[in-house]
Amino acid sequence: MARFSILLFTFLCAFVAATPVWPAFFRFPGTRAQTKPIAGNSPFQTCDAEEQQLLDVKLVNLLPNPPVRGENITISAAGFVKDTIEEGAYVDVEVRLGYIKLLTQTYNLCEELENNDVGGLKCPIKAGDYIIEKTVEIPKEVPPGKYSVVARAYTDDDDEITCLSGDIYFPTY
Ligand SMILES: *[C@@H]1O[C@H](CO)[C@@H](O)[C@H](O)[C@H]1NC(C)=O
Repeated sequence: MARFSILLFTFLCAFVAATPVWPAFFRFPGTRAQTKPIAGNSPFQTCDAEEQQLLDVKLVNLLPNPPVRGENITISAAGFVKDTIEEGAYVDVEVRLGYIKLLTQTYNLCEELENNDVGGLKCPIKAGDYIIEKTVEIPKEVPPGKYSVVARAYTDDDDEITCLSGDIYFPTY
């Protein structure tokens, strides 16, 4: 699962931004997040679409899509960062396998970017357009099934950077 979450990161880290929106406490955890499609060929969409977000994710491509266990996957993404992302930004990641919650974890966005070399991105990330590409290997050991992933990134001040969600299905063969 560690590798899988690194993959997520990589993906998320593609997108980063910072500008004030609604503070986290204005969100209603019980309400279903509104989603919006992302251009490109991937199982991901933007969630919390009703919120103002600091990162505008313009395009995401996975190659291959869907991903295959034991093979490499290349993620490419384009996005526009509206304001500088500083140290202290974080990502809440939740992964479910069917109805089972496999992982709920908070990661330091800037640290993960540096540790995983995501297109050389480094905090502070200035406003502007970004394009990134990253290849990672999906371990053969990942159990087959339908994984639902939600990743929400926030600035140090709890302003939403982006929300991404998607279902990834690994068949048994
Ligand atoms: C994935 O890519 C890396 C680096 O390009 C390569 O060394 C590795 O053999 C590839 N793995 C697979 C399963 O193709």
